[in-house]
Amino acid sequence: MKAVFIERFGGPDVLQYGDLPDPVAAPGEVVVDVTAASVNAADWKVRAGEYSQATFPLILGRDFSGVVAAAGTGVGDLKVGDAVFGVIEAGREGAYAEKLAIKAAIVAKKPDALSHIDAAAVALIGLTAIRTIEDSLKLKPGETILIQGGAGGVASFAIQLARHIGARVITTTSAANLNYVRSLGADEVIDYNAQDFTRVVSGCDAVFDTVGGDVAQKSFAVLKPGGRAAFIASGMQAPKPERSDVTSLRPAVGRARAPLARVAELVTAGAVHIPEIKLYRLSEAAEAHRVSEGRHFRGKLVFKVR
Ligand SMILES: NC(=O)c1ccc[n+]([C@@H]2O[C@H](COP(=O)([O-])OP(=O)(O)OC[C@H]3O[C@@H](n4cnc5c(N)ncnc54)[C@H](OP(=O)(O)O)[C@@H]3O)[C@@H](O)[C@H]2O)c1
Repeated sequence: MKAVFIERFGGPDVLQYGDLPDPVAAPGEVVVDVTAASVNAADWKVRAGEYSQATFPLILGRDFSGVVAAAGTGVGDLKVGDAVFGVIEAGREGAYAEKLAIKAAIVAKKPDALSHIDAAAVALIGLTAIRTIEDSLKLKPGETILIQGGAGGVASFAIQLARHIGARVITTTSAANLNYVRSLGADEVIDYNAQDFTRVVSGCDAVFDTVGGDVAQKSFAVLKPGGRAAFIASGMQAPKPERSDVTSLRPAVGRARAPLARVAELVTAGAVHIPEIKLYRLSEAAEAHRVSEGRHFRGKLVFKVR
């Protein structure tokens, strides 16, 4: 099969497009013929060696949509020909390929109303938004949430999910994306280059930070006493707040079928719209990584694999 892989850590130039052996379904796994896979910020972090647990050659990529091509022993609920989408097990990569093997239990059926491109685009961002907003922050109707980095992939899903829950959403973005994040439903938008969010936002029930660095640490300041903040761009540990009356959370983005089914349900019901998508071929992976790593692309970059 054709795949995009690395044999050493480094910049976009270490990405190789070539042939690797087809995967085989172990017990409990399915092999999926991948139709589409998306680019996530984690992919270039893995490529650069930030999670240096890898053995080479390492195929990159975490989320995908495709069709079941083979089922291992013990797989009873999926069959050859089923359209499915999902996110590869935590600690593994492998979606930038024509085929992948994955535990059947963490794959969801793709509704016909959702294209493969769209399903691949929302799998990991939707899973991350649901795990954070619903499972970790437990956001409630009527609460106010600040979502940092509104034009990004995860945040675009999170803004819409928070509004769907009935929360009031404040978000940060650059001037170029002010109208874009308003179109996602944000109630209040802050141009982070023109205004310091800590001076104009206060009394929030919750913060969801997708930016990291100083933005993460400063986010505690906007919380009301008893508020909670969740961080997905500050490594595996939640940052330590300087105040003792708030909670700092690092959501576990556990892979499972149920939250993926919820992603599909939210999209097909029209509660969450698919973000803007830019399509690439697998052979163009280095260019897609350069764009993603620039950190100012809005929406999602998706590989049309077949
Ligand atoms: N399982 C997990 O824990 C998990 C899962 C998914 C993602 N993540 C992490 O979450 C982070 C976000 O991922 P993503 O895929 O959503 O990112 P992304 O789509 O690559 O985010 C890019 C966006 O960030 C915005 N941005 C950059 N700097 C900003 C700032 N200072 N303030 C506000 N917005 C800013 C940019 O908008 P402007 O151009 O308008 O600045 C751009 O649209 C990454 O660090 C990723 O690794 C973790």
